[in-house]
Amino acid sequence: MRAIVLICLLHAALPFSWDLSGPIPTLGPGSECVTDSGSCGCCTMLKEMDRLTTYFNTTLNTLEKEYEQTKHSLDKMKASRSAFSASLTNDKTICHGPYNFAKLLSYKRVFINLGNGYSADTGVFTAPHSGVYSLALTVYSDTGAPGGKMVACAELLVNSQLVAGPREGNERDQEDSTTTVVALHLKAGDTVAVNLPSGCFICDDSSQHNTFSAFLLYPTE
Ligand SMILES: *[C@@H]1O[C@H](CO)[C@@H](O)[C@H](O)[C@H]1NC(C)=O
Repeated sequence: MRAIVLICLLHAALPFSWDLSGPIPTLGPGSECVTDSGSCGCCTMLKEMDRLTTYFNTTLNTLEKEYEQTKHSLDKMKASRSAFSASLTNDKTICHGPYNFAKLLSYKRVFINLGNGYSADTGVFTAPHSGVYSLALTVYSDTGAPGGKMVACAELLVNSQLVAGPREGNERDQEDSTTTVVALHLKAGDTVAVNLPSGCFICDDSSQHNTFSAFLLYPTE
């Protein structure tokens, strides 16, 4: 029995035939169990090996397919990386407002501009890819002396529409600061900008108090 099984396994593993004395069981389908119970067991083992081969092959094919899909998604995520962050000024103290008109602000000191979505010339961030973005705006102002009159405020605009307007109008102290952070679904080409509405006043210096940032959390197309 053991010898038959061994021969049988060798038969399955090697592409050439053996010249052994004595009868070698034929492995014709169905016939073994009638003639010889040893070859019957061998045949069952071969069938089992075939079944396992098919099983592993199918599993491997499935894994390869899933790996390709995962790799494709990862490549897409890498290719669509987008993040920018900027502050109002490079070094010198700069103030905007209060004006009696609205004005788009341009954040000049760029910390990062991954994917080149932000333009320091216009102050506008254009979403390079559709996806869910995190947008953040921090506003700061300084009257120069306690009790000065001011309202630190600005507006976060998407396609020129107001999304959030952080505002701090306490007049008892010298400095005021306020922040907004939102997550939004943007389509490729949507624009994000910061507007200084009439009456708002912001100041900055080398401490980078006023920041405007946007980054892609994940792409959607
Ligand atoms: C394994 O699967 C591939 C793809 O379906 C097929 O081409 C190949 O012949 C299979 N191999 C075996 C040993 O079944």
